[in-house]
Amino acid sequence: MKKTAYVTGADRGLGLGFVKVLVENGYKVYAGSFMPDWHELKEAAAEHPGDITIVPLNVGNQQSVDDAAAVIAKDTDSLNLLVNNAGIVADRSNTILDEMFFDDMLKLYDINALGTLRVTKSVIGLLLKAEEKMLVNISSAAGSVGTVTRTNQYGYTMSKAAINMQSKLIYNHFHEQGLQVRAVHPGWMHTRLFGDDLERMKEAPFEPDDAAKRIFQSVFEPLQADGHIFIENDGKPMPY
Ligand SMILES: NC(=O)c1ccc[n+]([C@@H]2O[C@H](COP(=O)([O-])OP(=O)(O)OC[C@H]3O[C@@H](n4cnc5c(N)ncnc54)[C@H](OP(=O)(O)O)[C@@H]3O)[C@@H](O)[C@H]2O)c1
Repeated sequence: MKKTAYVTGADRGLGLGFVKVLVENGYKVYAGSFMPDWHELKEAAAEHPGDITIVPLNVGNQQSVDDAAAVIAKDTDSLNLLVNNAGIVADRSNTILDEMFFDDMLKLYDINALGTLRVTKSVIGLLLKAEEKMLVNISSAAGSVGTVTRTNQYGYTMSKAAINMQSKLIYNHFHEQGLQVRAVHPGWMHTRLFGDDLERMKEAPFEPDDAAKRIFQSVFEPLQADGHIFIENDGKPMPY
């Protein structure tokens, strides 16, 4: 039987990269789609009939998260892998001396931090039922308190630090039952995270498909530092 995976924010960028690498490695993938009009995920699903099930998903909406989990639970008894990838970056705030847009920051926290937790909660039962089970939460170097040098991006950075914390709580709870957990900085990637202005990301060293492959290769390796689950895309520990 094929292994199963659930990827959020799978329409394009890193999420789509994950869908592709997982299918290439024999997984059946449930691909959370937030952008019904975007073409790339549909094309991938058409190329791999039966291997990719597109599931409408807004991680900021509890009903949508529950509906997506119900679709998955109807189709499979267990999930081997959950990749919480969906994320946003938009915040008009700059430094503490500038105007702060708290509504933007609340949205960032809701989508990035709570969205990740909502989705994990919605399928934790399916994950725990799998023999081999892995939770990958896509974090960011922006959420590393230990290495941060920037003086702005309060909303994004704090939402990603919160992902690291929830990942460790879930690891503490379940690693003795075999659930592996990783919070991963995927690297700086050439994606549309900042919108369609791809120029802004043109210096980025990674294409999302390559980052997904690197992460897929590294997350199943043993942790390089005992219990330290925040890692770079090649598995190196990243300071919390
Ligand atoms: N690109 C980088 O250099 C970089 C670096 C570090 C970490 N990351 C992280 O990597 C992850 C993937 O980002 P990416 O670079 O591949 O950007 P991306 O192309 O914008 O992918 C993120 C996907 O999530 C979707 N999404 C937004 N809000 C959602 C919601 N409420 N529910 C479900 N899906 C939603 C986005 O849709 P919309 O486009 O409509 O918003 C988009 O399809 C994010 O968590 C990001 O924070 C990226």
